Amino acid sequence: MRKQLVVGLASVAITLLALTAGAVGAQAQGIEHDGGDTGGNSDVPYVIGGGDARKGEFPFVASVQNKGKHECTGSLISSGSVLTAYHCVREPMDVANLTVVVGRNDLNDKSSGHVRKVELIFADDKNDTAVLYLDKSIDDIYPVKFPTPGTDALLRPGSLATLAGWGNIDPHLPHDPSILQKVQVPLLSQNECAAAWEHVSGMFTDKNICAGRAGIGSCYGDSGGPLFKKIGSDFYQIGVVSRGGGTCAQPGEPGIYASTSVTSFLEDMEQVYPKPEPVTAADS
Ligand code: ARG
Repeated sequence: MRKQLVVGLASVAITLLALTAGAVGAQAQGIEHDGGDTGGNSDVPYVIGGGDARKGEFPFVASVQNKGKHECTGSLISSGSVLTAYHCVREPMDVANLTVVVGRNDLNDKSSGHVRKVELIFADDKNDTAVLYLDKSIDDIYPVKFPTPGTDALLRPGSLATLAGWGNIDPHLPHDPSILQKVQVPLLSQNECAAAWEHVSGMFTDKNICAGRAGIGSCYGDSGGPLFKKIGSDFYQIGVVSRGGGTCAQPGEPGIYASTSVTSFLEDMEQVYPKPEPVTAADS
């Protein structure tokens, strides 16, 4: 019998309005949808802004799946690891049921892309980030890059960044796209974000950045996904989708992302799910 050690974790005591992947925000507030200049495909009537990504447009974007079903988004950060949100993989999630799919634009197109199992998870529960180590490397897709730690050149308030994910495309009803969605979201200043979420303690920390505006932003299933900018032919990931309002993309409720520009990003990671111990004679 294989033994799998699971290190007990103090539960994350943050007030998260929108934590559980797959859940749908309860109180619809009836906002006017604004297709707007979202950078998405304007034929797509839905907001939270986006449109279909083209096949191969953002090759590093990953689908994090539980028992073969998309649960969260992620990004390939090295040939053997994928970054996602910690709340996507925390207990009672069983690492044995977890796979990541990289290089697949349409989740229904099961023959495309690479499917990998997850062997080991390092996570930062406070900053809601996790790195999933894959059982086999992915060598034909360029991983996303990160900004130089401690810098903010890519974080100018008002500038646009791209968000990609397979999250819900309707703020009021469950509507999961099979094709990867993309949208351009404006970045906010830290002061503005703090003010927007002042009424919810612990919602916004100095390791977060905020992006989005009414009708444009992340939703359930986008968690763990990348917020990034393209410079030349390189993609730089500046944020990891973490949380937001109970109803997605409402006015005054910008989405919150773990910032990948903070100096300690990746340094605060601790092992949460170790590799199963090798089977010994006594076990088998
Ligand atoms: N936590 C959500 C997830 O698991 C994402 C929340 C994103 N934004 C929002 N406004 N609710 O997919």
